[in-house]
Amino acid sequence: MQFDFATPVARQHPGWPSQKWQRYDEDVAPLWVADMDFCSPPAVIEALEARVAHGVYGYGVVPDSLRAALCAWSGEHYDWSIAPEWQHWLPGVVPALHLASLAFTAPGDGILTVTPIYPPFLQVAERTGRRAQTAALAEPAAPGEPWRLDLDALEAAITPETRLLLWCQPHNPTGRVWRAEELKGLAALVERHDLLVVSDELHCDLLLDEGARHRPLAARFPALAKRIVTLWAPSKTFNLAGLTAACAVIPDASLRRRFAAAAKGLMPDANVLGLVAAEAAYTQGEPWRQALLEALRGHRVRLAEAVAGWPGVAMSAPQSTYLAWLDLRHSGLGASPQRVLLKEARVALSDGADFGWPGFVRLNFGTTHAQLDEALTRLDRVLAQ
Ligand SMILES: Cc1ncc(COP(=O)(O)O)c(C=O)c1O
Repeated sequence: MQFDFATPVARQHPGWPSQKWQRYDEDVAPLWVADMDFCSPPAVIEALEARVAHGVYGYGVVPDSLRAALCAWSGEHYDWSIAPEWQHWLPGVVPALHLASLAFTAPGDGILTVTPIYPPFLQVAERTGRRAQTAALAEPAAPGEPWRLDLDALEAAITPETRLLLWCQPHNPTGRVWRAEELKGLAALVERHDLLVVSDELHCDLLLDEGARHRPLAARFPALAKRIVTLWAPSKTFNLAGLTAACAVIPDASLRRRFAAAAKGLMPDANVLGLVAAEAAYTQGEPWRQALLEALRGHRVRLAEAVAGWPGVAMSAPQSTYLAWLDLRHSGLGASPQRVLLKEARVALSDGADFGWPGFVRLNFGTTHAQLDEALTRLDRVLAQ
């Protein structure tokens, strides 16, 4: 079956503004926030059309069929057998990060994460009255080499107050799929320091390398599963972020109860349309996902070719996601390359400073080839000197 990842979809409808397309002037190519410029899978659109046609959108319940669909997806794609009752559906992964802090830590406790990192990870501690603790990843040994987990730095950041690790795999923004040894070291550290872990695996269905399979942290280390809350959602993979449906998978009954108790009164149920879309995506979206990965692999090649022509700019090819993390510290564009590129190239990228690493930018290549090409051509004019 053919799916269309080539025809640009107008996203500037005045009645349906999108964050990605509205934040900057109309002439700016937006390659920042992590959503894609593609329509969702036809099967998802059809399921939504049928649900919309029903006409009644009152409070819903997570259907057993959705729980079963996620169990099947997990077994098939990650070799992890999960139970329906482990699933706590809610309106987003970021809310789940904050809920975990409220549920599992006390004021003044330390919440640990690595940098660079998806910005909300850095804000959870402060927003919930806890203490933020960070450790830098190890930079690529040479341009183009992968970013690595620096276990010594991570351990050095731990104090007696540290309770919770906010972990991201695959990693946003570097696109790293962590190696088995890195994860083994991480698991040992988690056990040694008696930490709980929230493993944000939102990008796990977007592994780009042919034949790569995701292994959830909790599945890789069954002895640790009782300490881990795994966060998944169909939102990145199937481009459904605005439908706000995500799932926390919590094998341990006591953690599950604490998480649910913290959610009471604060967290609305997942959106009824989001639940329908999620089920359609997990049950019928696989051919579309495979076609998407093929398109993204092509974009990754196109991007790498462009970056190769930009002196002083380095990128480790992302192993997952449609996000690329570019080092512009030696590009000559100064302390805020994001601002310069917005002004001079009219391309909007995410500012590395928000991820804890100024001098970097994150580029979203989840757009059509034509739109990516246009944006890269504009960046060429500034960077290919
Ligand atoms: C790692 C990661 N976690 C969470 C989110 C946001 O998830 P949600 O929209 O479900 O809150 C993103 C969005 O880009 C992300 O990259």
